[in-house]
Amino acid sequence: MNLTLQIWRQDGPNAQGSMVTYPVSDISEDMSFLEMLDVLNESLIEKGEEPVAFDSDCREGICGMCSLMINGQAHGPEVTTTCQLHMRSFSDGDTITVEPWRAAAFPPVRDLIVDRSALDRVIQAGGYVSVNTGAAPEANNLQVRKPSADRAFDAATCIGCGACVAACPNASGMLFLGAKITHLGELPQGQSQRSARVVKMLNQHDAEDFGGCQNLGECAAACPKEIPLDVINQLNQDFLHSKKSAR
Ligand code: SF4
Ligand code: FES
Repeated sequence: MNLTLQIWRQDGPNAQGSMVTYPVSDISEDMSFLEMLDVLNESLIEKGEEPVAFDSDCREGICGMCSLMINGQAHGPEVTTTCQLHMRSFSDGDTITVEPWRAAAFPPVRDLIVDRSALDRVIQAGGYVSVNTGAAPEANNLQVRKPSADRAFDAATCIGCGACVAACPNASGMLFLGAKITHLGELPQGQSQRSARVVKMLNQHDAEDFGGCQNLGECAAACPKEIPLDVINQLNQDFLHSKKSAR
């Protein structure tokens, strides 16, 4: 395939950015989107130009590092991560726009890289469970109902990529936050800190400049792990419960 890429280039956090056009040729439909960008970068390096900076790590859909807005869609046209998006999703001759996540909570770093440490700070505020040290407890003493185990597991598949934030017109982090609240709230280990957790994490979410949720659903549509909107429902329920128990 021969393609035209329009890529956001920005030298640094405070530099003026702009879209720059690059042709790429001989792209195999079996390449991942990031491998296609590797081909572009090799050609830029050969010409003595600065390669395009973008984030990636596992390239297996696990780590959540890859984060590109492709043709205006977070992670592109398929329900998957950017690293698992293959070029067969595009056609010969296409023009593809590639931009970074854009959200007040994700300040730009360079080109396609943004700083997503705000998500880490939301986790640090309360996305954990405290456990006693000592010998591991007998597993059968801590029984979990199958529906709860399944729901906790599904919510735990959130990889913290931030696509939900990038896709939301309000740049809200509620799907991410709801996934963490649901994951821990479904398990017995998560109960003792449940009320405090939701308040602490919500406060940090707001302090990081994420926006509010209007139930538009763009987040769930963009999520590569198909985290459902009902985790936001769970988040709201836990928050209301925390208010009642504080009275
Ligand atoms: S909820 Fe989905 S889109 Fe949002 S951070 Fe988690 S995996 Fe990414
Ligand atoms: S690079 Fe790890 S999920 Fe894409």
